[in-house]
Amino acid sequence: MNRKGIILAGGSATRLYPLTNVISKHLLAVFDKPMIYYSITTLMLANVRDILLISSPRDIELFKNLLGDGGKWGIKLSYAIQPSPEGLAQALLIAKDFLDGSPSVLILGDNFFYGDGIQKKLLDASNREKGATIFGYRVNDPERYGIINMDNNGMVKELIEKPINPSSNLAITGIYFYDAEAPIYAHQITPSPRGELEITDLNKSYLDRNELYVERLGRGYAWLDLGTHESLLEANQFVQTIEHRQGRKIACPEEIAYRKKWITKESLKILAESMLKNSYGKYLLQIINEFEYEDI
Ligand code: DAU
Repeated sequence: MNRKGIILAGGSATRLYPLTNVISKHLLAVFDKPMIYYSITTLMLANVRDILLISSPRDIELFKNLLGDGGKWGIKLSYAIQPSPEGLAQALLIAKDFLDGSPSVLILGDNFFYGDGIQKKLLDASNREKGATIFGYRVNDPERYGIINMDNNGMVKELIEKPINPSSNLAITGIYFYDAEAPIYAHQITPSPRGELEITDLNKSYLDRNELYVERLGRGYAWLDLGTHESLLEANQFVQTIEHRQGRKIACPEEIAYRKKWITKESLKILAESMLKNSYGKYLLQIINEFEYEDI
């Protein structure tokens, strides 16, 4: 199945002002790499290699400069503009031509996923041809998110976007697998009271058709969103802690591409040598020597 990826990395990130006065939040550092690396590598782990990155008119050129056509990581990156932040579901409308009838996976550029087994979770969702799959994760502050209400049999009862009095702690994470119908359903939804095409309304279209699947990411996983100063700092600390302890990088696209055999040893060496003065380049060189012994 040719599932294509969409990364939504627009918006104005006013919550992070003045950090984001002149630059996209998705280019800020999460420890040793730009935030956008984390959503790109999540798609790479799901074996999605044809990806559309959507951002604002102000920032799109910066992404092109940073990432190029993706060839250096064995993927294909295309770009599109979202003229103004009119909602997450608009991504499916902007991506319609790019998708050209393919199923998709949409990921928000400010979401961070980590945990042993995440790759299998993503691949299982990706292999489901019909319907939509969303991921639920227990959080302490559900009012900040879209949430999932289940009945006693574990069936999804309703989805609510940012409830004032949440009746569940199960937040909807920012990765969504859709079948080929998603752009058509996205056309049918109307802006919410806050003036946005809500992704929760698109997911409700699938729920109404009995075609919405919910997978839980249990407490062994980390799901962070990076939209506030506190959560950004927490993510930085999380990545630093794990990387320091393991001597393994989280969300290193060069490493993932190499371990998946999408790029050759020679290509990885060239990438490493362009950064040899810092620990990132040295890490890539180290990976070349250890390759045989480890899975991702
Ligand atoms: O993080 C998961 C949550 O993301 C879900 O639980 C919610 O159901 C979903 O609505 C969304 O919540 P937020 O409203 O908090 O999303 P936010 O406005 O922070 O935007 C998420 C990312 O998408 C962020 O990186 C900015 C980008 N974005 C957002 C909008 C509305 C765009 O690129 N374009 C947009 O139009």
